[in-house]
Amino acid sequence: MGSMPAPLRSDAWYAGQDRNSYIHRAWMRRGAPDSAFDGKPQIAIANTASDLTPCNMHLNEIARSVSDGIWAAGGVPLNLPVVSLGETQVRPTAMLWRNMAAMAIEEMVRANPIDGVVLLGGCDKTIPSLLMGAASVDLPALVVPGGPMLTGTFRGVPLGCGTDVWRLSEEVRAGTLSNRDFQASQSAMIRSKGHCNTMGTASTMGLLAEVLGTTLPGTAGLPAPDSRLLAQAHESGRLAVEMVREGRRPSQIITKASFHNAIVALGALGGSTNAVVHLLAIAGRLGVPLTLDDIDRAGHGIPLLVDLQPAGRHLMEDFHRAGGLAAVLREISDLLDLDALTVTGRPLGEYLEDATIHDPDVIRPRTLPMMADAGIAVLRGDLAPDGAIIKPAAATPELLQHRGRAVVFDSVEDLHHRIDNPDLDVDADSVLVLRGCGPKGYPGMPEVANLPLPRKLLQQGVRDMVRVCDGRMSGTAYGTVVLHVAPEGAAGGPLSKVRDGDPIVPTSRPGGIDVDLPAAEFAAREPAPAMVAALARPTRGWEKLYVDTVRGAETGADLDFLIGGSGDRVPRDSH
Ligand code: FES
Repeated sequence: MGSMPAPLRSDAWYAGQDRNSYIHRAWMRRGAPDSAFDGKPQIAIANTASDLTPCNMHLNEIARSVSDGIWAAGGVPLNLPVVSLGETQVRPTAMLWRNMAAMAIEEMVRANPIDGVVLLGGCDKTIPSLLMGAASVDLPALVVPGGPMLTGTFRGVPLGCGTDVWRLSEEVRAGTLSNRDFQASQSAMIRSKGHCNTMGTASTMGLLAEVLGTTLPGTAGLPAPDSRLLAQAHESGRLAVEMVREGRRPSQIITKASFHNAIVALGALGGSTNAVVHLLAIAGRLGVPLTLDDIDRAGHGIPLLVDLQPAGRHLMEDFHRAGGLAAVLREISDLLDLDALTVTGRPLGEYLEDATIHDPDVIRPRTLPMMADAGIAVLRGDLAPDGAIIKPAAATPELLQHRGRAVVFDSVEDLHHRIDNPDLDVDADSVLVLRGCGPKGYPGMPEVANLPLPRKLLQQGVRDMVRVCDGRMSGTAYGTVVLHVAPEGAAGGPLSKVRDGDPIVPTSRPGGIDVDLPAAEFAAREPAPAMVAALARPTRGWEKLYVDTVRGAETGADLDFLIGGSGDRVPRDSH
């Protein structure tokens, strides 16, 4: 006698012959065969395709391949458009809605007759929000990253999305590039479908989704136009059905071991600092204890092996050609937990055995790293008792041990107003401080920490300075930037008390960020009135809910009531 198939969650909607199952089946029929409701896994395709998320515009094409794979494996595909966030388009910052998107995904997956879900993301916040929402529901789920765009060239020179915008715009401000030439580079930069092609946040989170075990191995990093991505998408659809049949859930896959692997990989890839808040937030949804100290510990002594912008020269198309993620992971396999499971049910280590570096100019062998110790460093000290981070790979080595006097800006507006003033009392050794930009102070914690350098210093040839901020930095940006300072200024953190001229001492390892003043004198100061006056005070809507409930960057900037999960059960059912 064969064993009976395990009951499906969607049976609660479709099984039986009563009025309610009649309603559920009848309204979903629309051409679907009877067999669609006959014990077939119902797989949602949580799709962040949107014309206003240009990096994800092509996801409907990928969804069709996923859908074919689901049908082929005996499941039923169901397109589920979800909140999508276009990093370059939404204001004030896409991060303001990461948690809202995650909440909407969680609620819609739980509310519907769904047994498993394929998560289609790409642009910066989309994969984090999808993973956070899926983790809180804990139904079988896997990610298909939309992939990076192809390399564009301008006058024979490759252009990296984001990183070269920062670089070229600084050249314009320095007077070494005409604005006409700058504008002319636009259409060359964005050459194809896909997300930014540097090792920015989108590339980083796509790759880390795979390191966490949540993609079909070999998918992340495939360029968006590459037909092999569609083949992987088809196979991912098939795999989603298998995961439902075998009951393989995110809580079994995304464990402390997989976070360890993600942190190690982040260092070797030279990935985005934004990954820190996203990993902390995903861990929070799963109840995995992950802290900044874990990130510092696991990220310590990790060699940078990838020569990609913003830390290096090449772009994601080169990365894939050079061997991709598996080649990097194989080089650092002794630092990884190779037994960590993936969505296939097989351990990560199994997928690295045949990996090879095809171009050591792009992916360095372990013996010739770009930098010996490149993981995210966590700083603590007078200015950041709850922690701050720095990305040594994107910094100027001489500035990693630096002492300079503070030049303080109380808001982004204050910064824009004064940074290019010829009378600003600043020199190349100064430490630029920007505050009021944490999750509560400037809701969403915008990417402003790599504040622009004063024009008069740019014109003198200065290209990097120490900068300190409670906000975030674009994953495509570079510079000696101490960011995510916690507690943030708006929460009364010490950053709110710094004054112009205070001696600031950031050192990357061992990590400290101090103000060299008598402790009692500094502690007795009040937060700067100009910063307090500039803080956001929303009175309604999502922004108010966000400011009232958001936690600090050091725990992932999630809303306090969204941490953890509610599982897949619908608590009260009116049917
Ligand atoms: Fe979408 Fe960069 S703007 S990934």
